[in-house]
Amino acid sequence: MKILNIVGARPNFMKMAPIIEAMNKYPGQILHCLVHTGQHYDEKMSKSFFDDLGMPKPDINLEVGSGSHAEQTAKIMVEFEKVCLKEKPDLVIVVGDVNSTMACTITAKKLGIKVAHVEAGLRSRDMTMPEEINRLCTDVLCDYLFTTDHFADENLRAEGVPQEKIFFVGNVMIDTLLKHKAMAKELGLVEKMGLTPGGYATLTMHRPSNVDDPKVLAGLLEVLKEISGELPIIFPIHPRTRKMAEQFGLSHFFSSGDKVAGIWITDPLGYLEFLNLNMHARLVLTDSGGLQEETTVLGVPCITMRNNTERPVTCEVGTNFLVGNNPAKVLECARKILGGEISQGRAPEKWDGKAAERIVKILVETL
Ligand code: UD1
Repeated sequence: MKILNIVGARPNFMKMAPIIEAMNKYPGQILHCLVHTGQHYDEKMSKSFFDDLGMPKPDINLEVGSGSHAEQTAKIMVEFEKVCLKEKPDLVIVVGDVNSTMACTITAKKLGIKVAHVEAGLRSRDMTMPEEINRLCTDVLCDYLFTTDHFADENLRAEGVPQEKIFFVGNVMIDTLLKHKAMAKELGLVEKMGLTPGGYATLTMHRPSNVDDPKVLAGLLEVLKEISGELPIIFPIHPRTRKMAEQFGLSHFFSSGDKVAGIWITDPLGYLEFLNLNMHARLVLTDSGGLQEETTVLGVPCITMRNNTERPVTCEVGTNFLVGNNPAKVLECARKILGGEISQGRAPEKWDGKAAERIVKILVETL
């Protein structure tokens, strides 16, 4: 059976890596081909992840690049349709919730090709998030819905998805984390940067809801600066955030140079480097989806600067605190964590490093 595996943006790469590895165990049965849409294209947003994760180079790159949502989605669809017509796959696999996920799903389904969605059923109920629209469109069309937790299964059932399409398999992103944890630790980046374990925080922030409005961004940077007075914050800055901060004249909030202090910015980091920093951080501040899951498994407290999360299991059993983007609430939560008020999280069911194996086994048995 011929399968096209789709990746496009940074958070896709660590989800696809274990799936490819699991497929390689069925050489006579599965012929797989990796398609990169080119949604992310910078060395540090894309290629470095292939190197870190030992992923094969993409067989096909659509090179669509950046653009408005409509432009980017449309370009991916036009280019991916040509690939589907040429390759005639039996199945397309998409992961996560980025524009590439939705665009490739719609294109393949309209050509009558089966599609599997890995990380299906997550819902933030926030239609201002482009990812929520991507998730809804993808799930309604897919033939296989592979889920990470019980909330996702419940969401899909409530939307009328038949049970036989839903497969609770666990979390492929955590497959990658567990596989690379020891390797990341060996990097010793914490020591190389002159930091002590537990003596710093890490930060990611790139959601339009936090960085596209100058007042919101300024309010968050103000409070992050205050927190960084007690605990330096390492901020591998997303290109989108860097661009907005420069445009709004807010770059003075950042520091850089030899000594880590204040809100200390770096270029986007590699997968292993950032994992090394996160596993030893005192706390993580984020608006990303994946980090809420990674910190849950690492047992590191996470402050999520969003009003909602599509990953409530990380608050239910993990170490995640959902505080919104109100600066006073971010500060209050950080103070509590620094004062020792943290809960001991645990890994959710089936976040055990075997999700990709389960997915591929199901595909081999049913396709
Ligand atoms: C995308 C995903 C988001 C994910 C994020 C992770 C969608 C709708 N959003 O958001 O879910 O959390 O990736 O990074 O798919 N840029 C570069 N170099 C790159 C890529 C982007 O400079 O390699 C800049 C461009 O100015 C671009 C902007 O970042 O316009 C935004 O990129 P885009 O891919 O549109 O969305 P992200 O914000 O990265």
